[in-house]
Amino acid sequence: MGNSCMLSFFFLCLIGGLGLVKEVKGLACNWGTQSTHPLQPKIVVQLLKDNGFDKVKLFEADPGALKALGHSGIQVMVGIPNDLLAPLASSVQAAINWVQQNVSDYVSRYGVDIRHVAVGNEPFLKTYKDTYLQTTFPALQNVQAALIKAGLAKQVKVTVPLNADVYQTDSGLPSGGNFRSDIHDLMISIIKFLSDNLSPLTINIYPFLSLNADPNFPKEYAFFNGSAAPVVDGSITYTNVFEANFDTLISALEKNGFSSMPVIIGEVGWPTDGDPSANAENAQRFNQGLLNRIFQGQGTPKRKTPLDIYLFSLIDEDNKSIQPGNFERHWGVFYFDGALKYQLDTGNGKSLVPAKGVKYLARQWCIMSPDASLADPNLANSISYACSYADCTSLGYGSSCSRLDARSNASYAYNMYYQTMDQRKGSCSFNNLSVVTNQDPSQDTCRFEIMIDLRKQETAPRRSLAGKIQNSTMGLILLLLLIINGAF
Ligand SMILES: *[C@@H]1O[C@H](CO)[C@@H](O)[C@H](O)[C@H]1NC(C)=O
Ligand SMILES: *[C@@H]1O[C@H](CO)[C@@H](O)[C@H](O)[C@H]1NC(C)=O
Ligand SMILES: *[C@@H]1O[C@H](CO)[C@@H](O)[C@H](O)[C@H]1NC(C)=O
Ligand SMILES: *[C@@H]1O[C@H](CO)[C@@H](O)[C@H](O)[C@H]1NC(C)=O
Ligand SMILES: *[C@@H]1O[C@H](CO)[C@@H](O)[C@H](O)[C@H]1NC(C)=O
Ligand SMILES: *[C@@H]1O[C@H](CO)[C@@H](O)[C@H](O)[C@H]1NC(C)=O
Repeated sequence: MGNSCMLSFFFLCLIGGLGLVKEVKGLACNWGTQSTHPLQPKIVVQLLKDNGFDKVKLFEADPGALKALGHSGIQVMVGIPNDLLAPLASSVQAAINWVQQNVSDYVSRYGVDIRHVAVGNEPFLKTYKDTYLQTTFPALQNVQAALIKAGLAKQVKVTVPLNADVYQTDSGLPSGGNFRSDIHDLMISIIKFLSDNLSPLTINIYPFLSLNADPNFPKEYAFFNGSAAPVVDGSITYTNVFEANFDTLISALEKNGFSSMPVIIGEVGWPTDGDPSANAENAQRFNQGLLNRIFQGQGTPKRKTPLDIYLFSLIDEDNKSIQPGNFERHWGVFYFDGALKYQLDTGNGKSLVPAKGVKYLARQWCIMSPDASLADPNLANSISYACSYADCTSLGYGSSCSRLDARSNASYAYNMYYQTMDQRKGSCSFNNLSVVTNQDPSQDTCRFEIMIDLRKQETAPRRSLAGKIQNSTMGLILLLLLIINGAF
């Protein structure tokens, strides 16, 4: 009796468990923190949970982010920035210290579910020349040794996120894929090392950059709905560059004896501003197509198993280098403050949910004064001064604020400066060319932002605690008064 009950319970569990595995498809994304006004980590973790993200990738061991991820149920990939590769390569002790401070402590003291350490970030990018060629592999080996020493090597896997330019195809077809000749042997050594340690290879793939780099690139081929002119590769037909690019890597792996090497896609996404093809419409289309593939567990023609994909990115970062282009600060599915840019179906008919509990600066903007003249000799200088400290990438060609007239253009620049400076006194002066207004100057696609109030964010929990103490003190006094009144 008891046994059969246990047995049926077991089967119920099994069936329930299988159902669960099928139903709940977690999403993964990158969380970058190069912002002048970052969201509070607690708010970001809630944003991740609310939107079904159960894996996140960080570019460095950011203490605030890691602590907030403790006991969250979210799996973490922690990155090591490229400038740490040389010190980590030169000494095992440095790697032991790094792992101790940036992995072990967070796992044991804060309950952070760290699953991967990403050693470097696209270290073999052609634009870096040879800067990290000598240090990446030794750093990887030292970090792995340190993880073993810390007793974490089973649960925490090393990897190296690489740009898709580490491989290429001479035939122009995915089947011609192989590693770039200048780093071929190094790639093989790294892949063999990862494989020996049951660790994955990580590759970043950017259809947006393919489209962006080549004016003749067929736009439809960047997206997923099969309407592009197909690329025929033997018996395989490709209708999107994402699959073709990924399979170029799989061919390269096959050619070198690693056909079953696990691969993570560390970054893939679409920006919404800073370039004519970076807009909400294209980003929604691309990311929805990508999410649909994830929900369907769709692989590629050469690798049929579901892909492990980290979206790039969760939120915009207004302090990122724009060396690759103005779009670099606009990769977020959400704006910098966790506000919605566009809707996505995030599975089971759910939609994106914006960040909750964000504290903003006052509802006021800095604009060009109605009394100021466009002929003022200080105008041009004041705009370039503002834009040298604040993010004006939305003013560029083909961007969300590129159609503003000259006055609004100046206003946009002044406002970004004013907000970036936390609306500080004197930050809306510009030789008397500007004034503060309570009227939102935003116009169609152009959003005049108000920044997050960093002070309120930091003190909010403490203040509410103080408030509670005050409230309960008041309550106590009230209670005492009642007792005294009742007693007498
Ligand atoms: C923005 O980036 C610059 C250069 O990378 C850095 O020096 C500065 O501290 C950053 N500002 C903020 C607010 O993070
Ligand atoms: C831990 O990581 C941070 C951020 O990357 C870095 O600044 C720090 O040096 C690391 N700790 C050690 C001991 O290397
Ligand atoms: C492709 O997707 C776009 C946007 O999601 C849609 O408007 C279009 O009709 C689709 N085309 C085909 C052939 O499915
Ligand atoms: C707006 O400002 C940007 C940034 O300084 C400048 O490049 C652009 O020419 C300006 N456009 C107009 C219409 O004034
Ligand atoms: C700005 O205007 C005030 C008052 O009209 C004047 O006193 C001041 O000199 C002006 N400042 C500049 C930089 O023009
Ligand atoms: C204190 O009590 C007031 C009135 O009951 C309430 O509105 C407020 O939210 C409380 N403050 C805190 C921090 O709990």
